[in-house]
Amino acid sequence: MCGIVGYIGPKDATPIILNGLRRLEYRGYDSAGIAVIEGGKIEVRRDAGKLDRLVELVNEVPLHGQIGIGHTRWATHGEPSARNAHPHLGASGTVVLAHNGIVENYIELREELSAEGVEFKSDTDTEVIVQLVDRYLSLEMSFVEAAQRAFSHLKGAHGIVLLSTKETDKIVTARIGNAGGVVIGIGQGEMFVASDMPAILEHSRQMVFLESGQIGVVKRDGLAVMTLDGKPVVFDEHTVAWDPVAAEKGEYRHFMHKEIHEQVRSLTDTIGGRVDFDAGRIYLPQLNLTPELAQRINKVFITACGTASHAGMVGKTLIERIARVPVEMDIASEFRYRDPILDENTAVLAISQSGETADTLAAMEEARQKKATLWSIVNVIGSQAMRISDGYISMQTGPEIGVASTKAYTAPLVDLYMLAVLLADLRGSLNESNRRELVADLRLVPDLVSRCLDLEPEVEEVAWALKDFSHCLYLGRGINMPTAYEGALKLKEISYIHAEGYPAGEMKHGPIALIDENMPIVVIAPRDPWYEKMFSQIEQAKARGGIVVAVATEGDDVISALADHVLWVPPTPWMLSPVTTVIPLQILAYHIAALRGLDVDQPRNLAKSVTVE
Ligand code: AGP
Repeated sequence: MCGIVGYIGPKDATPIILNGLRRLEYRGYDSAGIAVIEGGKIEVRRDAGKLDRLVELVNEVPLHGQIGIGHTRWATHGEPSARNAHPHLGASGTVVLAHNGIVENYIELREELSAEGVEFKSDTDTEVIVQLVDRYLSLEMSFVEAAQRAFSHLKGAHGIVLLSTKETDKIVTARIGNAGGVVIGIGQGEMFVASDMPAILEHSRQMVFLESGQIGVVKRDGLAVMTLDGKPVVFDEHTVAWDPVAAEKGEYRHFMHKEIHEQVRSLTDTIGGRVDFDAGRIYLPQLNLTPELAQRINKVFITACGTASHAGMVGKTLIERIARVPVEMDIASEFRYRDPILDENTAVLAISQSGETADTLAAMEEARQKKATLWSIVNVIGSQAMRISDGYISMQTGPEIGVASTKAYTAPLVDLYMLAVLLADLRGSLNESNRRELVADLRLVPDLVSRCLDLEPEVEEVAWALKDFSHCLYLGRGINMPTAYEGALKLKEISYIHAEGYPAGEMKHGPIALIDENMPIVVIAPRDPWYEKMFSQIEQAKARGGIVVAVATEGDDVISALADHVLWVPPTPWMLSPVTTVIPLQILAYHIAALRGLDVDQPRNLAKSVTVE
């Protein structure tokens, strides 16, 4: 969850690392720190709080060097404080480390090192790693050997960067288990290390992604990759097409706002090159879905966390309705432990923006063990989820920086729709006219989304009406039940208003007791097959004094007569309606949080990639 950055080259490392950390702040913002080697000595600046505090500190007491590492922290062990901020120094002062992950056996390692006389300076689990490296460096091992020996003690999953004054020509980095990625950017006589690409995209688009169990020895003019026990590894360099400008806020005040508005482009790119409108066919070559496999699959399990799981719920309806294959959707943290019944005729489809979410990766591992076909829909190129899949669909959204996911929700909705049509086509379960109609509907998506975005001023007015409430209930049904979950998640995570998504039909079984004039109800009621069922929900809420905000199809006078406020969406083919109905809810949550003066892009306690369990 933390962000790590490293630089080695001819330039001043400090601004490069601080800029990189700025782009990784979404991974954690409890504290930030930087270490460089200056005049043969390690200089560290670090403090609790966001990166701005570190920048202040660096301005007060500058540090300069041509090799350095930085860290932005999402605290697990040890409170957010200066003493627990990374980078951490080894006892001898010759080695310094930044870390992402959890040392599961840190208590026993700490006792062992304390017994040897090491005085710990922090309450973190991380510090044991650097003290172990320090121990082996003092036994005259080389830097790489010392790191290897230290890593051999560790349980858990880790992304690590290390510097040593004993060998100032290299950064040692490692990825152990699934604690999030380590990516190395190749430059001209300079190299970059980061836990996520946006940190270094402005410097390099030639990337090497470390696999789990690999160490990278990064020098100015070259990279060596080896296994944890030192065997050389042949690695691939990837040219990344992501535009560095996409990781900038541009004219927008917040990344979330920018990313909401990028959905016309991201959905155009999602469809582009994958749809032959003349033939009425879908092409997803990286999914590796052959006609034989399509016939053989008798069940699909979708697994994901958070927003991605809501996309998965929509996917269940789409695949079952279009391809007539049974689908189970399970959140990854449950799936991984429930001993699911899988075999070689099952496909497990993981959905993940980051491709590094610990629970999702563990769920994929469970599927792999049980011999299921492993698919993923992933945004971050080169991420673990993408690499371990038998086939994948790459989201075409570009980097998503806002912690609240928006464009990485709508892209997989369209990916799932395309997957369902392709699966149905290969199984022969769609007649030609239906198939052509479903494919033709995809052409409408960018324009429909654009029309939703044009209605932002009206949504903002509703935000003014709702911004001071403490609770909010979102109701949806059928294919738009997950829209209710997603709308509620957006609101709660950035505005801190308690919001619940609920299946509308379940209201009368309990939650209706909550309704009064202090509980606004957001009802998702587009013209989908569940449309008429939603009237009674609105009536029941109104009868109990509830304020009703309806998401409804333009021109729907019935709903507008019933509801207090309406968030309009253009008429949308029902199977694609979750793509449009969610847009006003994203905008609503955004404006409510902004009006409440909150930090929209970095909500408290959250991190963009959840790489711990
Ligand atoms: C949603 O706004 C959150 N950022 C969160 O629920 C997120 O979707 C979840 O952590 C899954 O992340 P992933 O898509 O990177 O796996």
